Amino acid sequence: MQKSEGDACAPHDLAALLDSLPGMVYRCRADRLWTLDYVSAGALELTGYRPDELLASERRSYADLIIPMDRRAVEAAVESAVAAGQSFTMEYRICDRAGRTKHVWERGRLLRGEGSAAVLEGFVTDVSPLRRAEHDLRERIKELELLYEVSSIAGDEITLDEALWQIAERIPRGYSYPPEVAARIQLGDRLYTSPRFAPDPCRQSAPISVAGRAAGVLEVCRISDSEIPSARYFLREEQEMLHVIAGRIGALAERARIVEALRASERHTRELYERLPIATLVWQRRGDAFVLVDHNRAAFALSDGHVPAWVGHGLAELLPDRPELVDAMKVCVATESPLRREVELARADVPSAIYVVSFGFVPPDLVLTHVVDVTRERHLERRFQEAQKMEVLGRMAAGVAHDFNNLLTVILSYTGILEKSVAASQAAGSDVADLEEIRKASERAAALTQQLLSFSRRDIVAPEVFDLGDKVRELRGMLARLLGEERLLTVSLAGAPCPVRIGPGQIDQVLVNLVINARDATRAGGRVVIATATIEADDHDGVHLDLPPGPRVVMTVRDDGSGMDAATRARIFEPFFTTKAPGLGTGMGLAIVYGIVRQAGGAIVVDSNPGRGTTFRIYFPRDQEPLPRRGGVVLAPQSREPGGETVLLVEASEPVRRLVLRVLEAAGYRVLTATDAAEALLLCERKTSEIHLLITDLVMPWTTGASLAQRIAARCPGMRVLFMSGSSERALQAAAEVDATASFIAKPFTGEVLVGLVRRILDGGPAVS
Ligand SMILES: Nc1ncnc2c1ncn2[C@@H]1O[C@H](COP(=O)(O)OP(=O)(O)OP(=O)(O)O)[C@@H](O)[C@H]1O
Ligand SMILES: [Mg+2]
Repeated sequence: MQKSEGDACAPHDLAALLDSLPGMVYRCRADRLWTLDYVSAGALELTGYRPDELLASERRSYADLIIPMDRRAVEAAVESAVAAGQSFTMEYRICDRAGRTKHVWERGRLLRGEGSAAVLEGFVTDVSPLRRAEHDLRERIKELELLYEVSSIAGDEITLDEALWQIAERIPRGYSYPPEVAARIQLGDRLYTSPRFAPDPCRQSAPISVAGRAAGVLEVCRISDSEIPSARYFLREEQEMLHVIAGRIGALAERARIVEALRASERHTRELYERLPIATLVWQRRGDAFVLVDHNRAAFALSDGHVPAWVGHGLAELLPDRPELVDAMKVCVATESPLRREVELARADVPSAIYVVSFGFVPPDLVLTHVVDVTRERHLERRFQEAQKMEVLGRMAAGVAHDFNNLLTVILSYTGILEKSVAASQAAGSDVADLEEIRKASERAAALTQQLLSFSRRDIVAPEVFDLGDKVRELRGMLARLLGEERLLTVSLAGAPCPVRIGPGQIDQVLVNLVINARDATRAGGRVVIATATIEADDHDGVHLDLPPGPRVVMTVRDDGSGMDAATRARIFEPFFTTKAPGLGTGMGLAIVYGIVRQAGGAIVVDSNPGRGTTFRIYFPRDQEPLPRRGGVVLAPQSREPGGETVLLVEASEPVRRLVLRVLEAAGYRVLTATDAAEALLLCERKTSEIHLLITDLVMPWTTGASLAQRIAARCPGMRVLFMSGSSERALQAAAEVDATASFIAKPFTGEVLVGLVRRILDGGPAVS
């Protein structure tokens, strides 16, 4: 305030004026305590002490109110101003009577005198609100910076560890007043320390809690080179700031914990999805298209590693000939309900693959597909159904052949007898010719029953080990001639040996039947390929067979002919199934192939489509070493005249029994006949003379020829055995196991052959070749 000229202010007016100022006016000496000579009433508000309390400097000196950290600076400023005779302006902090820290602004000047006798006067006012506002602003900035740290930790680039290191380093920079501070954060078992931290007893700390639980502590200490312990002093605001930071760290840790838990859960879910043993593909609807956006490992494996290249492509683009799958996805999205479809996909060179695809809608625009390869199951199902059908047909064929062979034995034998008597009586030539016709017709019928037996796997064969490659090489010329000049036969044989165990002539028959079919299916210029290969036990060649595991030999016969549709394919192995014109095919070719292959313990697979040719693959178990030949029908000529031995004949079929009886009696043997095992055993009990030979059918009601022979042999040591057989290979094997010296004769046979064989057996010659 300016005072006007001549209007001098009275001293009491002046004192009142000074007392009303918002601050403290003083006059003091420049001694160490700044002893006050005058102080205005404003001192009370500024310091909490009345002027008289401050004037009595022995009770409370103003200098003592200055906080220790600032005192030296204040002293230095005053000393230099006094020395220079200048006024001084400064800011520092005092601690008032109530213990509050106040920021004060002071302006003073030297009034008179010098050195410690100098007198100073000045004005001190509280600028705390201003400084607090500034401080708060700085604090806000610091908090915002910390918030920035917090938000950056939420990103992927920074981990909680890194963030805490950064905070530990940042904290010291947040302290405005010297001396410097160092910080340490302990969180759980982790420790983050800024440089030069020392566990000082005067350090300041704030607890860190995470999700409401004590989790650690944040500490700061002052680093002072000075000996003065008060240098470690902290302000209340600093304490508050420390709590804010501790709170932020807690929030940060909590957030990191949540993020980590979320990530772990996401990883877990992803891992589940990845490790799901079902191929899973995720499609996204884009307009009318469904685009592949993701897949799991099982899908990678199922696609043989191709699936990553499909990502980003539409289903319609990937499977253009399967629009029904896109339709299924649309239905799945429209109805929001799951769907299943079975699809068969053609593959090059191997039978087609069959998949069950399940569709599930995942709002808002995803379709999840699970793909299960059911090729093996479907193939096995089909093969099982096929095998069942063939088994029934086989049994039927075997039954027919068995009865037929009995009848043919009778017809052929009586024809032989008649032929002899007609020849002896020198009857008319036409009778001889008629009998010849009967014989020929019977022989054709016998050949047909033989084919039926081949199909029904009841053909009597003595398997041997052959190299399939050798066989094909041997037959190659003949097969090429069968195909004729207009078709090309290519043979490609495995380098390794391909031993298979099979009846002699059976491979020839299989190849002939397949090559004739190939010839009939191809036009002039067509090609037929015969190949052999070996397969190790663990290869499955894309084909699922109902065969025991183990090394195999595969023979392929492929043509580029007309191929077959599914309906034809399903029936080709049935006996008498043919698509050829009457008289051109009997329909027995593949039935025989089937029977031979199954009898050899193998499997046959066909792959054919109309216009795309046909491939037959035949799998045989790979044999280890050649086996000695065993068993077999011996058709030996008569060696010696009969000697009147006793023969026990057991045969259920009356015409056969009568025929054999007649033939053997005519040959000079004594014959006992029985219709079944019980009767035969009874005859043995009552026998009056030695039985030299037992002739029995292998197939008997209630028992087998083999077990009957065993029981009778126990009573008649030295007795020889001849089995007659019309069908059963299993019965033949069983019989051979019981009696390795037994002989066999296949029905139908002629009387002449039977008599010759009986003689040879009784003479003790090798009845088994
Ligand atoms: N390579 C092939 N290509 C096309 N169709 C075939 C082939 N092989 C067999 N088939 C079909 O299978 C049917 C049955 O064959 P299968 O060999 O059993 O009898 P077939 O050839 O008709 O008569 P058969 O062989 O008894 O003289 C044939 O009529 C034909 O329709
Ligand atoms: Mg045929």
